[in-house]
Amino acid sequence: MARVAVVTGGTRGIGEAISVGLKNAGYKVAANYAGNDERAKAFADKTGIAVFKWDVSDFEACKSGMDKVVAALGPVEVIVNNAGITRDGTMKKMNRDAWDAVLDTNLGGCYNMCKAAWDGMLERGFGRIVNIGSINGQAGQYGQVNYAAAKSGIHGFTKALAQEGAAKGITVNAIAPGYIDTDMVAAVPANVLEKIVARIPVGRLGKAEEIARAVAFLVADDAGFITGSTLSINGGQHMY
Ligand code: CAA
Repeated sequence: MARVAVVTGGTRGIGEAISVGLKNAGYKVAANYAGNDERAKAFADKTGIAVFKWDVSDFEACKSGMDKVVAALGPVEVIVNNAGITRDGTMKKMNRDAWDAVLDTNLGGCYNMCKAAWDGMLERGFGRIVNIGSINGQAGQYGQVNYAAAKSGIHGFTKALAQEGAAKGITVNAIAPGYIDTDMVAAVPANVLEKIVARIPVGRLGKAEEIARAVAFLVADDAGFITGSTLSINGGQHMY
């Protein structure tokens, strides 16, 4: 039986490639999204992947959203916590809302989603969780204290939860993408992005599919000995 995978932020950017990659690998995929109905509909029409709308920063919404996925597709055995936002700005300009929004979505969303799926994974003795961190959670980034803190938190969250799942058949891993060719990275001012790309040894931005193939690797049934790890995929920009 095909396993059911939920990909948060799964209709755009890196998440879109992950949803498609998992579908192609034989999973029944539920792609979560928060706001962009038009993009989600276009994605569903193009890929045939079911889309589900809820805000991962909302604890109750995650619980009821996951109930809907289970009713439609079956018990969830794979979660990819990919949903993330940026509210970049130097400390001088970063207000409390920009801090809260990024922490609540990027890090709080991981807790909310794992909490909603954890008991079911324990009962079945099987689970695969992949959390999408970031090079900027490993190395820091000027203008991103909120994002770097949330992504760094994801790496700690991953190692802690991996210890709880290890003897129960549940693996928890993280991927730390570098700068990938998505709308999020395209929003970085061109002159700043140019300097960043100049520091990537591979000489280009990454492709979303290059993250998706690593997710498929980590969630596979025969990846059960890989847990608590962080896979850095950044073109050599930060070797960690
Ligand atoms: N190191 C040192 N100084 C820097 C700097 C850096 N990396 N970046 C900017 N500065 C300096 C500038 O030189 C400037 O100095 P002066 O005032 O002395 O001239 C000062 O900081 C202000 O710079 P800006 O004019 O750019 O200021 P701003 O307020 O308009 O914007 C910013 C600041 C929002 C941080 C902007 O520079 C920016 O967007 N930077 C990119 C941040 C980034 O990389 N975000 C990643 C988004 S993608 C992502 O997050 C995905 C992922 O996981 C990788």
